[in-house]
Amino acid sequence: MSGRLAGKVAIVTGGSSGIGTGVVEHYAAEGASVVINYRGDEKSADEIKSKIEGNGGKAICVQADVAKVADCQALVDTAWNAFGKADILVNNAGVEKGSEFVDVSEADYDMVLDVNLKGPFFTTQAFVKRLLTANLPGRVINMSSVHEDMVFPHFASYCASKGGLRMLTRDLAVELGPKNITINNIAPGAIITPINTGLLNDKAKLDPLLRNIPLGRMGTVDDVAGLATFLASDEAAYITGSTFIIDGGLIRNYHEQ
Ligand code: NAI
Ligand code: BGC
Repeated sequence: MSGRLAGKVAIVTGGSSGIGTGVVEHYAAEGASVVINYRGDEKSADEIKSKIEGNGGKAICVQADVAKVADCQALVDTAWNAFGKADILVNNAGVEKGSEFVDVSEADYDMVLDVNLKGPFFTTQAFVKRLLTANLPGRVINMSSVHEDMVFPHFASYCASKGGLRMLTRDLAVELGPKNITINNIAPGAIITPINTGLLNDKAKLDPLLRNIPLGRMGTVDDVAGLATFLASDEAAYITGSTFIIDGGLIRNYHEQ
């Protein structure tokens, strides 16, 4: 297939839903072979794979819980075994759990940090090990959030995870740059996906948020996937260690209601 990502192989964690699905579909449309990671929703992953194959693309689905290091490693191994290499890793899987700070349980804290920070950490480690062994360049793209910088009261664990991802990216850009491996973050604002189901159904929360967004709307999966495609493409070859905010201006306009 032709396209900006022709000949590339991309692993996308959490690819069976929301932003991850958008990234998978955009990458496949640009000619990449895609590895669709899912945790439990095999049916959705299979449907996306069939759609890609129907359009002449290549895709495989791989079950893995990115909160488990062994699963992160197996995900990367499966991609290499299927396609002989992997050029692009998108650490997209993420969860959030709202709660008063004083009520956050150890289990909930662990869940958020394990999926959002430990997962990207060890999936990237497995991905980089393969690249170094094969002496290949690579791209890592993390789906962070405006909340790697911006406060989100009642989501302290989520903020801690995304703040950690921000610093991990800066650190690895320096360590991995000499190996021709780049790493960047995408920091979406409020995007229409299942993670925001509660918000989308709560007018009292949604209306003030929309008033805070200068462009006056929530973002779409396609908005974010377009940026992820650019960052995976040759056009972004000289970019590393950066966070790309895609939020309709939210982060510049935030104030408490
Ligand atoms: P979503 O809920 O549709 O997608 C999250 C994905 O992560 C799902 O596919 C889910 O199965 C997967 N996932 C969760 N735990 C996993 C695990 N242990 N192992 C493997 N996969 C797992 O929500 P959305 O919005 O598409 O989220 C994608 C990323 O974008 C997340 O990292 C989220 O923090 C980030 N984000 C989303 C924003 C939004 O407004 N929708 C804004 C800023 C960041
Ligand atoms: C969160 C969403 C929230 C958005 C803007 C994202 O990181 O996942 O729930 O709507 O930031 O605050």
